[in-house]
Amino acid sequence: MSDDTNTLYCGDNLEVMRTLPDEFVDLIYLDPPFFSNRQYNVIWGDEAEKRSFEDRWDGGIETYISWMQDRLYEMRRMLKPTGSIYLHCDWHASHRLRVLMDEIFGAKGFQNEIIWYYRGAGISKKRYGRRHDTILFYTKGKNWAFNADAVRTPYAKATVERFKHYIGNVRDGHDFGLQELNPKGKHPDDVWEISIIAPSANERWGYPTQKPEKLLERIIKASSNPGDLVMDPFCGCGTTIAVAEKLGRNWIGIEISYTACELMKQRLIHDCHAAIDSFKIIGMPTTIDDAKKLQHFDFQNWILRKSHAFANVRKTGDKGIDGFSFMHKYPIQVKQSEHVGRNVVDNFKAALDRVGQKTGFIVAFSFGSGAKGETARLNRDEGYYIELVTVNQILEGHTLTKDERGKKVLTDLPFKDNK
Ligand SMILES: C[S@@+](CC[C@H](N)C(=O)[O-])C[C@H]1O[C@@H](n2cnc3c(N)ncnc32)[C@H](O)[C@@H]1O
Repeated sequence: MSDDTNTLYCGDNLEVMRTLPDEFVDLIYLDPPFFSNRQYNVIWGDEAEKRSFEDRWDGGIETYISWMQDRLYEMRRMLKPTGSIYLHCDWHASHRLRVLMDEIFGAKGFQNEIIWYYRGAGISKKRYGRRHDTILFYTKGKNWAFNADAVRTPYAKATVERFKHYIGNVRDGHDFGLQELNPKGKHPDDVWEISIIAPSANERWGYPTQKPEKLLERIIKASSNPGDLVMDPFCGCGTTIAVAEKLGRNWIGIEISYTACELMKQRLIHDCHAAIDSFKIIGMPTTIDDAKKLQHFDFQNWILRKSHAFANVRKTGDKGIDGFSFMHKYPIQVKQSEHVGRNVVDNFKAALDRVGQKTGFIVAFSFGSGAKGETARLNRDEGYYIELVTVNQILEGHTLTKDERGKKVLTDLPFKDNK
């Protein structure tokens, strides 16, 4: 097993892949953003975190394709000569991605265009319902793993019945004999009907583009063997790595969102029962400079998690409040800015008034004299207990806790970071 295996990288996959060796991965599955011009707002299942990731492309599909091209070339470099790659896409860009895959892996590398058919979505009065995704399956060399027996499907009832009453396969006066049904099931074909994840399903982690584990099970069982290395460079909330872990494969996951990486850590530990020291996480933000580079929602979640607080999942009513402290649920506002001014304090005071609170925290990189002066005045003259906390203080272990009179209290923390 290489040092890179069972590692979750938090970062841009292009930068991460450039640091990884040639020809060492057996199977790649990728489910990149779909060029769908949608913005996903994500609220985790435990209602404790929220983030958004953008799926928008200035410059249109050409920008998207060249962005994908750079990454797919890296994937080809990392794939073993016996390796396989599955690219998950949909009608938005599947036509262009197929051409791109032919260019990178060669038309001879094309094996299947898999149709993942699902019910329940995509209905329109103006056209047929759009109810499938496309998964392009390519291989790199002349030989590759394909375990059909591992993914056979049950025969249709009618086929089983027909074989029960077989009285001869006679054509043109010649009996071709009985072709027995394979006891392991029907040879798998390229149309897969697998349900999308139900709202109440155990495997649901609240990630809007989360794919069903069944889908990944088929791919991983068919195109890899136990002990092989499976990579997902856009791993989202970690469906591929969770299934790889459960099926005894080694894995590498890459994901740009800090929040998703944090979620995957929980999924590996709680869902896959992976020991905390059986995998590595590289690239999680630890410094002020890292924090400055985070997307806004990731930054908020990072600060809230570091300070053992909860995200505010309500969308209306308590505008200006990003989270609540662990102990007494005091409001918190998180600003990814330097020199935060007096207006932020005024707005936060208004938010406190709306929820009937006097105590709260504002977190930012730094505060200007206007914010400091106004906070001192509110605390002194109007009975508020507003505290201005810098990101640096949070990094030094400052937790957002106070008692009802605004005094600091010691608390048992709800969880400790192991990594
Ligand atoms: C469609 S989602 C993947 C969902 C995943 N298959 C699952 O089941 O959870 C695409 C993911 O790619 C991530 N992403 C986008 N650009 C990236 C990049 N340059 N490097 C790494 N991850 C990226 C997004 O944050 C998002 O989580």
